[in-house]
Amino acid sequence: MPYIEFMDLQRQYKTHKSGIEKALANVCASAAFSGGEYAEQFEKEFAAYQGARFAAGVSNGTDALHLAMRALGIQAGDEVIIPANTFIASAWGPVYTNAKPVFIDCENDTWQIDVSQVEAAITEKTKAIIGVHLYGQPFDVDALKSIACKYKLFLVEDCAQAHGAEYKGKRLGALADAGSFSFYPGKNLGAYGEAGMTLSNNEALIKHINALKNHGSYIRYYHDEIGYNNRLDGIQAAILSYKLRFLDSWTERRREIAKMYFDGIVNTNIVMQKQPDFASSCFHLFVIETPDRDDFTAYLQDNEIGYGVHYPVPCHLQKAFAHLGYKAGDLPVSEYHSTHCLSLPMFPELTDWEVERVIDVCNKYRRII
Ligand SMILES: Cc1ncc(COP(=O)(O)O)c(C=O)c1O
Repeated sequence: MPYIEFMDLQRQYKTHKSGIEKALANVCASAAFSGGEYAEQFEKEFAAYQGARFAAGVSNGTDALHLAMRALGIQAGDEVIIPANTFIASAWGPVYTNAKPVFIDCENDTWQIDVSQVEAAITEKTKAIIGVHLYGQPFDVDALKSIACKYKLFLVEDCAQAHGAEYKGKRLGALADAGSFSFYPGKNLGAYGEAGMTLSNNEALIKHINALKNHGSYIRYYHDEIGYNNRLDGIQAAILSYKLRFLDSWTERRREIAKMYFDGIVNTNIVMQKQPDFASSCFHLFVIETPDRDDFTAYLQDNEIGYGVHYPVPCHLQKAFAHLGYKAGDLPVSEYHSTHCLSLPMFPELTDWEVERVIDVCNKYRRII
């Protein structure tokens, strides 16, 4: 049996080789390598695609969150509420501003932030909430927004995994104060290197981020505040503009594959992610839970099927945050998920045969006790 990869970026490159190479050649010819015309064009295109008025293209998704935090004025002494079940970069933005991340547990069926636990975590130091559209599935924006409004907190969407996903029929990124995206190569819209973007309907905020990413400068060689070199790379922008044309068809295929998994996998040892009515996921990842992950992943390997684990340690128990004093048992749902979750193969170029083979292997799994 041929091995089924968890993710294979080369298939897409093979199909789009000439388009990618043309984009590269255009940037080389115009020498718009850092910021410049291709970066500005992609900012406009992606903002329009996501339904946002303004965009700041930056160097990666981590910087997109960091600069959003800075531009919102988050600083030392502030607290920022974040789900524990996410990639750690969701927390780096506040940490880089010397604010304290406060982690919240996830729901036991959607595996998204448990909004019902947020109010109890708010103190007089809380300044913002970062909601994460994890695995490509939108969190309940309205529910989190009403808490943010009640306590006068900023709400930032971490959309790193959610290009093209919809919340109540609307794309993400400008549903609250700001939204940050990653174009890391494996993302649904992935660069050929590093890239990111912050979106917002607040023009002043985006202007501020554009200055911060460019050495704190609005006018060349005049530096109004301490800034960063976090500009969007021209080559990445040109490739992303080219690839954006195909994002709808890739999302459609991901949704088709997800439907095949949902309809086809029937096994009491496999728990699927609940899909709330308000959320139309773009299925960056197809995550399941199983009672004995080591046993199940060994079985997948024996059957030549790749998998991922997103994520093996929840943020509050990462060594990097040991100084915050969390301990095992503090956020039990995220902890259970981290030790029982795994991600099945998911990328648009998977063939029907491969998806059916994954389904068949999943359905034949019997837990060996
Ligand atoms: C949820 C989440 N937030 C933030 C990031 C950070 O993005 P980047 O890797 O582009 O810095 C990622 C990407 O891996 C992510 O998955």
